[in-house]
Amino acid sequence: MKVLITGGFGFIGSHVTDIMLKNNIEVVIIDNLSSGTLSNIPKFDMTKFYQLDIAQDDIECVFAKEKPDYCIHLAAQTSVAYSILHTKEDAIMNIISSIKVLDLCKKYNIKKFITASSAAVYGVPQYLPIDEEHPTKPISNYGLSKLTMEKYIELSGVPYIIFRFANVYGPRQVSSKESGVVAIFNDEMIKNGEINIYGDGNQIRDFVYVEDIANICYEAIKDNVVNEIINVSCNRGVSVNDLYIQMAQIYNYYRTPIHMSERSGDIRDSVLSNKKACELFKNFTNVSLEQGLLNLKKANCEGEISPC
Ligand SMILES: NC(=O)c1ccc[n+]([C@@H]2O[C@H](COP(=O)([O-])OP(=O)(O)OC[C@H]3O[C@@H](n4cnc5c(N)ncnc54)[C@H](O)[C@@H]3O)[C@@H](O)[C@H]2O)c1
Repeated sequence: MKVLITGGFGFIGSHVTDIMLKNNIEVVIIDNLSSGTLSNIPKFDMTKFYQLDIAQDDIECVFAKEKPDYCIHLAAQTSVAYSILHTKEDAIMNIISSIKVLDLCKKYNIKKFITASSAAVYGVPQYLPIDEEHPTKPISNYGLSKLTMEKYIELSGVPYIIFRFANVYGPRQVSSKESGVVAIFNDEMIKNGEINIYGDGNQIRDFVYVEDIANICYEAIKDNVVNEIINVSCNRGVSVNDLYIQMAQIYNYYRTPIHMSERSGDIRDSVLSNKKACELFKNFTNVSLEQGLLNLKKANCEGEISPC
């Protein structure tokens, strides 16, 4: 069995690659390394890596040469703020380039196209936890581009699974202004740096551990579940302030956080129901936030990210 992973050297993609390799599934990666790094998967067989940009390069050669059975499409423009400032570029990446990958999946008879959508497609929640029947009304271009892509996939005739991820966290997540709050807190707390919290910090988020995401991608390949849109989450709301307190205890961090103004495009509260994921995938794993944060701290200490 051979799986093509776009964005395979990224945060989520590298964990998905790890689990596939652990289960003796052959992996081929397309990645332009714009945000991913080779060090995320140090032992990867480089003959199976194609450093290509899905927006610009002809990626058909990879399909023709490798003839993958499955495609896990994770390469994307992932920044909400960027999507607001650069609407066209966001659409080119998350819609047009993704259609290109999808078309090739159709042409080369891929058995299943698995891709990453986002909680951002729902917009402002009408109720919590948000299930898959909740209306979709994105409030950012990122959410809109992900939703548009979903519609193209549904129409394509290619067997698919669309995962709508909540806030993913874990080892290898790069800390930047735009990355997840856990990665930012992690990096700042390690070096006893300054913690900024946008808004009052009472906004609710649903943090899902990256290995749960990798596991469900693996289950999606093994299982015959098909043509479904599925939330992947922890199904538990935690405020950013509570996250801060929990992490401060684990990291022995004592500085007071600084509150900044809210960011546009951010949804106030978001919790995704994972009932459907649990029903469809009996092996769905759901690491608690407490355990996930301890795993992350341990990964730091083992040199995955930076020394403690
Ligand atoms: N991290 C989260 O919390 C989260 C939540 C919901 C959805 N998602 C989605 O999951 C997917 C993976 O996200 P991530 O957090 O691992 O991001 P990431 O930036 O770590 O990974 C993206 C990978 O794609 C590669 N890439 C980007 N543009 C490319 C291009 N034009 N051509 C080839 N490769 C390209 C990058 O180099 C990187 O390796 C994305 O589709 C993202 O929208 C992530």
